[in-house]
Amino acid sequence: MPGQNTFQSYGSVAKTFHWLTALLIFSAFPLGYFANELAHQIQSPGFDGSQAVIERATLLFSLHKTIGVAVFFTALLRILWALSQPKPGLLHPDRKAEALAAEMVHWLLYGSLVAVPLSGWIHHAATTGFAPIWWPFGQSLPFVPKSDAVAGVFGGVHWVLVWTLAGALGLHIAGALKHHVIDRDATLRRMLPGHASLPQPPAQSHSLLPLLAALLVWAGVLGGGAALGLIGGKQAVETGTAAPVVAAEPGAGAASGWIVQSGTLGITVTQMGGAVTGSFGEWSAVINFEEPAAPGPAGDVEVTVAIPSLQLGTVTQQAMGADYFDSAAFPAALFKAEIEKLAEGYQATGTLTIKDQTVPVTLPFDLALEGDSAKMTGGLTLNRLDFGIGKSLPDESSLGFAVDVAVELEAKRAE
Ligand code: HEM
Ligand code: HEM
Repeated sequence: MPGQNTFQSYGSVAKTFHWLTALLIFSAFPLGYFANELAHQIQSPGFDGSQAVIERATLLFSLHKTIGVAVFFTALLRILWALSQPKPGLLHPDRKAEALAAEMVHWLLYGSLVAVPLSGWIHHAATTGFAPIWWPFGQSLPFVPKSDAVAGVFGGVHWVLVWTLAGALGLHIAGALKHHVIDRDATLRRMLPGHASLPQPPAQSHSLLPLLAALLVWAGVLGGGAALGLIGGKQAVETGTAAPVVAAEPGAGAASGWIVQSGTLGITVTQMGGAVTGSFGEWSAVINFEEPAAPGPAGDVEVTVAIPSLQLGTVTQQAMGADYFDSAAFPAALFKAEIEKLAEGYQATGTLTIKDQTVPVTLPFDLALEGDSAKMTGGLTLNRLDFGIGKSLPDESSLGFAVDVAVELEAKRAE
């Protein structure tokens, strides 16, 4: 049957898999390369915040990842098929070194077809804030935590494996062309469509040596990559996770009221349809609060937030730019409000100043009071346009208008 391999030639199924994979890889490669170049440009200090460049990078990354995931599944099917098939014999098994090199490269290519996309995919799944894979099956992977460290390691592994694949591919193509042009034998023809008359390969035995050689190459490049700091030390450029996590240090003192012991101030935005959550590492609150017997005024609060302490996945650095928080010109945000006890729960009503915009806001919250300790949880939704954030993105396709703010803190009554 022409679909099946024979000892003489590849069948049509193997040929289709071979050329389909080649097409996908030759697409994924330049897309990854140019997306990465754009990501570097976006993160360089001189970047002007151009939306067109950011959108192009996101588009190239999404295309790259989607095609890469297609490589992964095509490779699995291809390998299953190859396992069920006889392997065409080498036409010159007597040329030992050449045969070893050819078979080692085939192992490197088969391994790369799985390992290259998988490493990219793990890198992607470990990050928040990303150009999505265009498919409906989610962006996470089981057992892969959201972690900058994991993303950094697999970004490096992806890079090392990608360039190993490139090297193997260079040898593979050079070998195929040598057979065709110099040896003038049927090696390339039997991988091409059609059924030209093909010679019978001589009888030959198989050895494990090519596989061992391929494993050695991988051990060498992964070990070398780790020693050179390419793996682990390499920064994940797409995620822009350069800044170390700032230790949360809320609650720097209180007037006559309460001192914040611990807390988080988080925000969630919708980027390219996916939720991206981040938080401010540095903020302080001055809280005066006296629980009234009945609903009514209960005190006041003033919160100052250090804008540059925001960590927001991919867009951390972008968020600081002039069109967004403009942290260079406006390094702090200020929330000033009167606290009121309601029939149920509490609210803080006042103003929030971000950049040069002061907007009235109300923060509803719950409070659990126990002696001199209090636990507060609350949240509100802001509209980024009210504060002139992302004015160059006047619709919601790449960045939603709503910004969910979540506050949690524990405070103790001052002595
Ligand atoms: C990304 C691109 C490519 C990948 C991943 C790839 C991978 C492979 C693999 C794994 C095999 C071994 C098949 C087996 O024996 O089970 C193979 C065979 C072959 N490939 Fe490619 N290949 C690629 C591109 C190319 C190109 C561009 C050429 C031609 C210029 C080519 C020519 C061949 C030939 C002639 C064979 C048969 C070798 C033989 O009969 O011993 N390949 N390829
Ligand atoms: C056969 C499949 C793939 C090939 C050939 C490939 C190739 C590449 C190349 C050439 C680069 C640029 C490396 C550099 O110059 O620094 C790159 C980067 C990248 N690739 Fe892939 N890739 C593949 C699959 C994937 C998949 C499936 C994903 C995710 C789902 C992915 C995610 C990434 C990411 C996020 C980067 C940027 C790395 C960083 O931030 O350090 N890749 N890839």
